[in-house]
Formats: sequence, C-alpha cells, structure tokens
Amino acid sequence: MGPPGAGKGTQAERLVKKFGLKHLSSGDIFRAEKASDSELGAALARYMDAGELVPDDVVVEMMAKAITEVDGGLMLDGFPRTVAQAEALDKQLVEADRPLDAVVVMTADDDIIVKRIAGRRACPICGRGYHVTFMPPKREGYCDDCDGAELTQRSDDCEATVRQRLEAYRAQTEAVIGYYRSCDSLSIVDVDGNLDAEVVSVEVIEALASFEAQA
Ligand code: AP5
Repeated sequence: MGPPGAGKGTQAERLVKKFGLKHLSSGDIFRAEKASDSELGAALARYMDAGELVPDDVVVEMMAKAITEVDGGLMLDGFPRTVAQAEALDKQLVEADRPLDAVVVMTADDDIIVKRIAGRRACPICGRGYHVTFMPPKREGYCDDCDGAELTQRSDDCEATVRQRLEAYRAQTEAVIGYYRSCDSLSIVDVDGNLDAEVVSVEVIEALASFEAQA
C-alpha cells in the first residue's frame, strides 16, 4: 500500500519473482478493461482519468473474480483502497481459507511522487516499468526486453490528475492502513519509498523473509 508513485508496482514486480507469487494489480486489471473498449471500460475510464476512485461495488466484484482465478500465493497491488474493500476482501479470504500474511506500507514525499509519475513509462507488451531519469531503458523510448516495442505513458499521469489521486489516497485509502495495523495476526512492513528502489527492495525482502521464517 502507498500513495501513487511510491513504487508499489516497481517493488511488486521484484517481490513476485523473489517469492514466487502472482502479481494482481487493480490498476492494471482496470486499464486492460479500459483498453478493451467495453461499456465497463468506458465507465472505469471516467473515474481513472479524473484521478478518482472507482466505486467499491465495481472494484470488489472485479477483484473477487481475479483473486478466485489464481491458485497459490498472491501479491495484491492497489487493492484494497477503502475500508469497505478491505472488509469485502477479508470476507472472501476467510471463506476461501487463504489468510492475508503481511501488508507492505510505502511512503513517499509529494514532490518526489510528482517527478516519478511525470517520467513514468511502461512497455505495452510485457508491462515492464521504466522512468525516463531514474530507471531509463537502454535505448531511449524502447523496451529493453521486447524487441522494438515503444514505451507508453499512462493517460492519468499528468500533474493535475496526480494531485487528485493523492487527495483520494489521503481521504479514502490511508484509513485502510489503520484498519490493518489494528489486526494482530498481520505482519506490517513499513518502508521509506523515497529511497533508492534497490534499497527499498532489500528492506522489504528481508522483512518478508524474516516473517516467513518465523511462520
Ligand atoms: P493504480 O494503477 O493502482 O495507480 P496508483 O495507486 O496511483 O499507483 P501508481 O501505479 O501510480 O504508482 P506506484 O506506486 O505503483 O509507482 P510505480 O512503481 O509505477 O490506480 C490507477 C487508478 O485506478 C486509480 O487512480 C483509480 O482510479 C483506479 N483504481 C485502482 N485500484 C482501485 C481500487 N482498489 N479502488 C478504486 N479505484 C481504483 O513508480 C512510479 C515511477 O517511479 C516509475 O516510473 C518507477 O520507475 C519510478 N520509481 C519507482 N520506485 C522508485 C524509486 N525508489 N526511486 C526512483 N524512481 C522510482
């Protein structure tokens, strides 16, 4: 969990490889629906491009389906984002006997967030993330892995929308962190997302590995 641009997606890409998990990003799932030109995709686009949260009933239904379709360990990214979503997730996980083990909480300063988001690019084929300054591809504008694929920028990655996304985070999502902190059975990893991405990865991996060893 963390504000836009804290590095959730960047770290999730690394953690799923390390721990053999499946990465489920609500933002990626919604962007795929948007790209399909469906009626649902058009409805999602109205919220996402305005920097507002998608309504809980839509989110819970889409994420419940995505979670059910995956066997084994999961890394959730961007979900849950409201206390109502967290409660619905708890209910689903209890019913499926798939307990939540740990929550990673990332922070980052607003000025860093704005710089990161303005420079973010991604490969439309493999989904790998880059930053024009902080994590540049070997050849400017093109994916390192997918021969000749031109990197793209998200439609909600402009400064005004980022500010709105930060407001939504503070108004609706920070409460979810309090919700999880009050839960005794959960391990919480707090990490400073302002730090270099490699340092963040090492800190999170060490913390999660120590919880795994204790379990
Ligand atoms: P979503 O796709 O989840 O976006 P977000 O939460 O705003 O987060 P971002 O993807 O912008 O940031 P990130 O923390 O993953 O950063 P990243 O690693 O890419 O959601 C988009 C929209 O969908 C929402 O606004 C909402 O409308 C809707 N939505 C999604 N889930 C929802 C839900 N549950 N309920 C309701 N609505 C929902 O890093 C950013 C950049 O910085 C990259 O270029 C990266 O290379 C670089 N970078 C990362 N870490 C570092 C570092 N340590 N140092 C230097 N650069 C770094």
